Amino acid sequence: MNLGKNDSADNLPCSFVIFGATGNLASNKLLPALYHLEAAGRLAESLTIIAFARRDWTTENWREHMRETLDGKIKGSLDTPVFERFIARFSYHKGDLNDVASYRALAERLPPESACSGAVFYLAIKPAEFGAVIQNLEAVGLNKPRGLHRVVIEKPFGEDLESAQMLNRLLHQYFDEEQVYRIDHFLGKETVQNLLVFRFANTLIEPLWNRNFIDHVQITVAESIGIEDRADYYDRAGALRDMLQNHLMQLLTVVAMEPPAALEADALQDEKVKVLRSIRPIAKRAVHAHALRAQYTHGKIDGKPVVGYQQEENVEPNSITETFVAAKFYIDNWRWRGVPFFLRTGKRMPHQTSMIAIRFRHPPQQLFRETPLETIDPNWILLSIQPDESMRMEIHVKQPGLDMDTRLMQMNASFLKTDEQTLDAYETLLLDVIEGDRSLFLRFDEIEWAWRVVDPILNHWAVEREYIPTYAAGNWGPADANRLFDSDDQVWRNEL
Ligand code: BG6
Repeated sequence: MNLGKNDSADNLPCSFVIFGATGNLASNKLLPALYHLEAAGRLAESLTIIAFARRDWTTENWREHMRETLDGKIKGSLDTPVFERFIARFSYHKGDLNDVASYRALAERLPPESACSGAVFYLAIKPAEFGAVIQNLEAVGLNKPRGLHRVVIEKPFGEDLESAQMLNRLLHQYFDEEQVYRIDHFLGKETVQNLLVFRFANTLIEPLWNRNFIDHVQITVAESIGIEDRADYYDRAGALRDMLQNHLMQLLTVVAMEPPAALEADALQDEKVKVLRSIRPIAKRAVHAHALRAQYTHGKIDGKPVVGYQQEENVEPNSITETFVAAKFYIDNWRWRGVPFFLRTGKRMPHQTSMIAIRFRHPPQQLFRETPLETIDPNWILLSIQPDESMRMEIHVKQPGLDMDTRLMQMNASFLKTDEQTLDAYETLLLDVIEGDRSLFLRFDEIEWAWRVVDPILNHWAVEREYIPTYAAGNWGPADANRLFDSDDQVWRNEL
């Protein structure tokens, strides 16, 4: 993003190693993003990419796999010269994540230090495997020279506060902080970055952005997909660890933070941490009032039948893993005290929608009480993140005519002009890793505080193992999600 580049920006890496190259994340996100960077001419000629995976494949098999994977996932159709250029960078490395010999062989593939500087190690693998990879990289000396090699860690970083702290200690034993890129790809989404511009480049907005004018904030990330082939990971994680602790919490910090002293990694992270530290801790006895979980059963998406979570391949038959979570948080600081932040995310909801909805307070004076306008809907600002990046403001205007009647006017602004295409978050973030820009990556204290916020909920659920409420696939989660609201006029906003 060209914010706060660190010194390593001068040391462009010339190797990019993807651990878990045949997995879901690599296929759906990393390879298409790298392809787009190739097409845009943003990858240095010297960059080689090593696909590290367990399958007994030749480079030819990999090539075929790439063609199939990219087809349908990239924007437009595969461009042959771009694809040829791209595939020529790759080599396939058959290896076992737990076997140090695989890393020794990997080290031999990397160019000697004098020939080229660093390597990026991207851990596109299950969190349970992070530790083994970090230790094995160290065992063959691939953590050194420090400052040169970079390691990218996906979320969730740990599965609770304690395990996150352990993982961080392990990382710091072998890598310097400057080498570590903890990724949360939501921070690479255009709308999220745009939120900074929207809030801090417009004098119109900032004076209203506080408890005096805002009634509550809703953050929804709804997905229509199920868990695809990720049961192995998802059944252990659940929606709270997979989405809320990281992606939704990051959105909350960007909505709520104070203006940073500068647009630099540390200054931004300082402000985000302040928000997380100000979130009112949820007492054990208050968990029920603040959070709820549910799991999808069979239903219909886009008119087509889909199975329930427990019938998905590799899911434990009586699993109580949540695929939906909703929670309410209060930020006890001067700006936000008393304003609830409602966060909600789920799989197998009617369609993919991610948005931040800001609801304003009712006007203090009921000036229109004696007119047909007795109950006036409040103003909203809606920031859509997916599928389209746009902003909508809802305000009242008088309807032309003899009566005092209003209509709600929706001011819509798409962030994109017709000839512009949106960037995928991974394109931005992978380029940032290569260029050594850490401003959109997480500092450990952000992760630590986010776990402190959600740990009480996890602990409470961990002892309630008997039962989980359900919702039929194709719905907006359980009706019970309404119980989080503080007043009758608060309702979930499902559509723009
Ligand atoms: C990932 C989660 O981090 O984000 C997935 O593990 C989820 O479960 C995905 O589907 C959503 O990201 P995006 O960018 O596709 O909306």
